[in-house]
Amino acid sequence: MPTEPRKILVTSALPYANGSIHLGHLLEHIQTDIWTRFQRMRGHQCYSVCADDAHGTPVMLKAQELGITPEEMVAQTRAEHHQDLLDFHIEYDNYYVTHSEENKELCEEIYNRLNDAGYISKRTISQLYDPEKNMFLPDRFVKGTCPSCGAENQNGDSCDVCSSTYSPTEVINPRSVVSGATPVLKDSEHYFFDLPKFESMLKDWLVSGALQEEIANKLKEWFEEGLQQWDISRDAPYFGFEIPGTKDKFFYVWVDAPVGYMASFKNYCNQHNIDFDSYWNADSDAELYHFIGKDITYFHCLFWPAILEGAGLRKPTGVNVHGFVTVNGAKMSKSTGTFIKGRTYLNHLNPEYLRYYYASKLNDGVTDIDLNLEDFAQKVNSDLVGKVVNIASRCASFITKRFDGKLSENVIEPELVAQFHQAADGIAEAFEKRQYNRAIRDIMGLADKANQFIDAQAPWVTIKEEGKQQFTHDVCSLGINLFRILMVYLKPVLPTLAQQAESFLNDKLTWESAQTVLTNHEINKFKALMQRVDMDKVNKVIEDSKENLESSPKVDPNSPLVKDPIGETIAFDDFAKVDLRIAKIAKAEHVEGADKLLRLQLDLGGETRQVFAGIKSAYQPEQLEGKLTVMVANLAPRKMRFGLSEGMVLAAGPGGSDLWILEPHEGAQPGMKVK
Ligand code: 2FM
Ligand code: ZN
Repeated sequence: MPTEPRKILVTSALPYANGSIHLGHLLEHIQTDIWTRFQRMRGHQCYSVCADDAHGTPVMLKAQELGITPEEMVAQTRAEHHQDLLDFHIEYDNYYVTHSEENKELCEEIYNRLNDAGYISKRTISQLYDPEKNMFLPDRFVKGTCPSCGAENQNGDSCDVCSSTYSPTEVINPRSVVSGATPVLKDSEHYFFDLPKFESMLKDWLVSGALQEEIANKLKEWFEEGLQQWDISRDAPYFGFEIPGTKDKFFYVWVDAPVGYMASFKNYCNQHNIDFDSYWNADSDAELYHFIGKDITYFHCLFWPAILEGAGLRKPTGVNVHGFVTVNGAKMSKSTGTFIKGRTYLNHLNPEYLRYYYASKLNDGVTDIDLNLEDFAQKVNSDLVGKVVNIASRCASFITKRFDGKLSENVIEPELVAQFHQAADGIAEAFEKRQYNRAIRDIMGLADKANQFIDAQAPWVTIKEEGKQQFTHDVCSLGINLFRILMVYLKPVLPTLAQQAESFLNDKLTWESAQTVLTNHEINKFKALMQRVDMDKVNKVIEDSKENLESSPKVDPNSPLVKDPIGETIAFDDFAKVDLRIAKIAKAEHVEGADKLLRLQLDLGGETRQVFAGIKSAYQPEQLEGKLTVMVANLAPRKMRFGLSEGMVLAAGPGGSDLWILEPHEGAQPGMKVK
């Protein structure tokens, strides 16, 4: 146990104020909350803050759609988010909002410092503009034909089919997602932050131990690609903070969002008389950790430390990056009911099941975490109900009924007890390093030992034997004590179960409690501490999460209900040229550096082809291997960034997770011609 209490501030990424908290968000908030609770148990001063991310075009447009002001919408969403988090026992010291006075002041102060130091410049750029809505269009609000491969209905900045990235001004036949109008090009002056000036500082920071290895490597790639000036302004109409000294120029949401971490903490410090500056000054003695998902690494590992440095503030001690959540092996999807909102889960299931399951899978890497619902039920039932709680339930009734509710004065099996005490450091180290899966594995290893001990002593037999009363008392008392130590170790993960255990044990569980044994101690009557996970309830969660696409009131352009209009016709001869073949997916794998592509090895019955398919959003590679599909076999090979693509597989659906490759009947054989 370190002697000096540490001064720590932690944050989780701020959820956008235009959508609900879902199981993906919860992975991170649970990860952060476990770490925070652990630090506090160890006697450190650990504050945690979060907030709703209020600004930006999507929030502004959603509020317009709802016919309310963005402020009203943000206030409602913030309250909903906060309640969802609290109901998962995720307790930030402050859950604030970025649309706040503190944030505005901090953004202005930081911007002025950057400007004074010469890190801000102005330049006129040309961007797509919606002439009907009178607004500039962010990339994701433009759709059109991919300039690289000609695929229709692609995003304004990247193509799902060929994976190329481009500027929205290169899109062919662009249209505004907001109004459907054809955008026009319009000039406007933008403000830029001079990121390249910070390259050498960032390279030093990279090796300071602040980053996981995978992330440090990613940064190195970005350095090789070259850092660019960062466009930090957006033109009105925009829901955000106006840039000081400008008219109708607003900070891009990604400027004020991380400053929102500071603002949330400042709001808390003001109320609790805490020295805010001592956490943020360049010479701060506090530790600062940001927990984030891998998709926002660029913002937190390049822009944010550079801004802090440029403004004369401290940099993060660590940016803790985690992977995405998949459900049953695939990306969360609304149509299959695996896009699960926190509230839908809470309507049917105990939040601690999820806390435990995530903890059992989380490590300090950035690989994705799969929530397999069968495994989830099985693990919670076997570990928590079957192992941990079972220890207490097997021993408690004898203590209550036969020994006046008092634990024995003897401690038997000192070696077993010593193992439980000695596990503390390893478990603490695992929590500290965010290797929660290791902590859980160790704790469950101890739980197994406790159960083996009770099984071997069989108190339910000895209680009936003459002369074995004291022995039975000692065995059951030890069982309760072992349960108590397990609950100490599990307390950061399962705060409510720990609280119930505290009432039952008539004891407050601190980290140090794991080094002691209760003797001659009165306990309370045991009440069932946790129910088994009921698969019917899990299925209800899925059912309730399925979006009823038929009765969807609003038509969203991405909805599968919006069919692509049948375009130009082609002559039969043209069609006859397309050689469609049955192919077997012999191998499927991720492509390093590609967000949307999978590399497929297609077996055409004797011939093998490599094809890059933009279906990563809908499939995990392992789901595909062995399947039959249909491919265009005579498409001219195309050289892509990742290698040669020798054909194309056919898929249907609007995109994202709702995309299905064509799967012919099993009787089909690789190589057969599709007629
Ligand atoms: O990606 C997101 O969901 C952002 N709202 C996260 C912001 S984190 C921070 F920088 F504020
Ligand atoms: Zn394309």
